[in-house]
Amino acid sequence: MASKPTVLILNGPNLNLLGTREPEVYGTATLDTIESECQEAADELGIAIDFRQTNHEGELVDWIQQARGKHAGIIINAGALSHTSVAVLDALKGIDLPVIEVHLSNIYRREAFRQHSYVSQAATGVICGLGPAGYVLALEALANLP
Ligand code: DQA
Repeated sequence: MASKPTVLILNGPNLNLLGTREPEVYGTATLDTIESECQEAADELGIAIDFRQTNHEGELVDWIQQARGKHAGIIINAGALSHTSVAVLDALKGIDLPVIEVHLSNIYRREAFRQHSYVSQAATGVICGLGPAGYVLALEALANLP
């Protein structure tokens, strides 16, 4: 049997704190809960996922680079690095894979510094403000890309 295509789901700094971190902004779901919801959706879509989190910019860049030729696409919530990291943008631009950017909160209703994302310049699509559902919607979008 051919192996299922694998989508890499990347989470950046401080997303390990979900559940207790500013629940009025990010809700109460933990990252483990979000991973389980993604796993369920992936099973239904017939795809596999590789779900990761790091607080380190270099590790995120390494993981993005390693995805080339190995993963079918990337879903990324780069956290604060979305707004600061040219290195993450360059890595995403360098791998020639579809990228969907996700944010739990609606970054356009928040502070001005959150309203620009470097990641968006490498993204096929962007989903923000829908909480954990955004990850599942991103998976569905990736699975249905032409
Ligand atoms: C976030 C939004 C970012 O501005 C913030 O730094 C995060 C989380 C979100 O999911 O809403 O860490 O990416």
